[in-house]
Amino acid sequence: MNSLMSMTHPRPRRSFGLHHGKKVYEGYNAERKVRNRKKKEKKREGYHAFAREFPTTNTPLPERFTNTILCGDSLSLLQQLPNQCIDAIITSPPYNFGLEYGTHQDTDTWQQYYAQLFAILKECVRVLAYGGRLMLNVQPLFSDYIPSHHLISHFLFQQGLIWKGEILWEKNNYNCKYTAWGSWQSPSSPYLKYTWEFIEVFCKGALKKDGNKNAIDITADEFKAWVNAKWSIAPERDMHTYNHPAMFPKKLVERLLKLFTYQQDVVLDPFNGAGTTTLVAYQQHRRYLGIDIDAGYCATARERLKI
Ligand SMILES: C[S@@+](CC[C@H](N)C(=O)[O-])C[C@H]1O[C@@H](n2cnc3c(N)ncnc32)[C@H](O)[C@@H]1O
Repeated sequence: MNSLMSMTHPRPRRSFGLHHGKKVYEGYNAERKVRNRKKKEKKREGYHAFAREFPTTNTPLPERFTNTILCGDSLSLLQQLPNQCIDAIITSPPYNFGLEYGTHQDTDTWQQYYAQLFAILKECVRVLAYGGRLMLNVQPLFSDYIPSHHLISHFLFQQGLIWKGEILWEKNNYNCKYTAWGSWQSPSSPYLKYTWEFIEVFCKGALKKDGNKNAIDITADEFKAWVNAKWSIAPERDMHTYNHPAMFPKKLVERLLKLFTYQQDVVLDPFNGAGTTTLVAYQQHRRYLGIDIDAGYCATARERLKI
C-alpha cells in the first residue's frame, strides 16, 4: 500500500537552500543556494578571467572567397584570408581513428595530429569575426582512450575564446558490441560505449552577436526546443550516395545555423567534406566558404550546390 501511494503521490524533491538569508529545506523550484550571487560572479571575473581581448573591428570576406568551395590544405588557404572576416565556423575535423577518406590519411601519431589540427584551429580563431561563433563537432574517442573533445576544447579556451556551451548530439546508434574492446560482466576492463557526440560552441570576444532582427529565422517553438542542449538526431543516411565516411546530417547544421547565426552571415567549414555545411548554409540564405583537401569531396560539395 505504501509503495503504491508513493507511486501515485511522489514526494516532491527537496534540497537545502537559502531564503532571505535563512537556510531552509525546500523544493527544488523554490531553492536559492547562493547568497549575493551577482557580487560573487563579479569577484570571480566570469569568463573575462580567461577570455582574450580581440579587436572589435571586422573585415568583409573578399568577393573571391564568398560562396566558394576551395580545394587544398586548410592551413595554407586560411592564411590567405584577412583577419576577422567570418561570422561562424561549423565543422567536424577528422578524428585520427583510421577512417577511409579520399586524400587525408586518418592515422598519425597523436602529437602530429594535434600539431596539425591546432595550427588550423589557430587560423580559424584569427579569421573569426569579433562576436563570431565557432561550433566544433567532436566525438569522445573510443579505441585509444584519448579525450579529444576535452583536448580540443582546452586548446580553444587557451586561445582566449569564450566557451559558450556544449550540445550533446544523441545519435541513438546502439550498434557497437559490448565486449569488443573490454571485459564481459567483469570489472577487469568494462568498455564504455558512446551513442552521442558533442558540439562545442565558442564565441570570440563577446557572448552577444549583433545582427539585423529581420535576418532571424528561428521560430519560437524551435528556439524553446533547441536551447535544451541535448539534440536527438539520427546520423546521415546518405553517406554511401556521396561516398564520404563521416558526413553531418543536414538537420544538425540547420539547427546550429538558425540558433547561432543570422541570414546573410558568412559561414566557414574548413573540413567541408561532401559539403553539408555549405549546402545547408546556402539553403538557409547564409553566405558560405567550404574547404577540403580532397578534390573528389570538393566536386561533390559543388555538385550538391549546383555551382
Ligand atoms: C569529418 S570529415 C567532414 C565531413 C563533413 N562535415 C560533411 O558533412 O561531409 C573531415 C574532412 O576533413 C578533410 N581534411 C582533412 N585534412 C584536411 C586539411 N588539412 N585541410 C582541409 N581538409 C582536410 C577530409 O578530407 C574530410 O573530408
